[in-house]
Amino acid sequence: MEVFDDPDAMRGWSRARLGSGATIALVPTMGALHAGHLTLVEEARRRATAVIVSIFVNPIQFDRASDFDRYPRATDDDLAACRAAGVDAVYAPAVATMYPPGFQTRVVPGALADSLEGGMRPGHFEGVTTVVTKLLAATVPDVAVFGQKDYQQLAIVRRMVADLDLGVAIIVVPTSREPDGLARSSRNVRLSPDERAAAVAIPDALQAAAGAYADGEREAARLRAIAADRIDREPRAKAEYVAVVDASTLEPLTTIDRPAVILTAVWVGDVRLIDNQLLG
Ligand code: PAF
Repeated sequence: MEVFDDPDAMRGWSRARLGSGATIALVPTMGALHAGHLTLVEEARRRATAVIVSIFVNPIQFDRASDFDRYPRATDDDLAACRAAGVDAVYAPAVATMYPPGFQTRVVPGALADSLEGGMRPGHFEGVTTVVTKLLAATVPDVAVFGQKDYQQLAIVRRMVADLDLGVAIIVVPTSREPDGLARSSRNVRLSPDERAAAVAIPDALQAAAGAYADGEREAARLRAIAADRIDREPRAKAEYVAVVDASTLEPLTTIDRPAVILTAVWVGDVRLIDNQLLG
């Protein structure tokens, strides 16, 4: 496995591979790799003959400096996990390489980024679209693999790739979950044992709404209330939003008459977790 920290060297490796007939899949990550990331790597291996994992904790997508500082970092473990998973190359640039003095160009997403995570975390998605563009430019992949947990991110990246003719296929992998249903996240390691137990309210809430939907409930306010109520009953959890929206446009729905998704962001202690569930 090769490790690169420079975009030109990374691109040189990719171009040489592509020139000798390989196809390339990129798995963009912020490191602190867990079993969920490895499901993305597995999918990448099915989709291409060479797999690149990028590891970069992107400062410009954090709305709070404290969250960036406390974001878990585990470079040695991450490299070992990539090696064990059969990854061909890791791209792990330094912040100063990605954003050197004089850096000033950003990719600005459209309306998909205005609500939900974008509403709560101003500038977050502009940071994501900018870094993803840079990662795609350095790795030149045929496909890039993203998890469904970051549902809005996925929708925005798909839109960006289409709008900017970036020519990379975006693949989605269903959210990887712990046995009790909690979505796997690098942030889970920051939960105390009590908070970890409380966090199960999040998948329970989404499941309760999905169950009501399966039983025929089509009123978005009712499904939202079912999920919000489950979270409210957990004293350690505080919902920032629970929303039922059109699965493609992310516009709020009154009645579910098309594919929809219920999404939530929940504080458990000082850890902010997100999750979602498709409806229909
Ligand atoms: O989903 C993530 O881990 C990040 O937002 C991404 C796509 C790697 C960009 O920094």
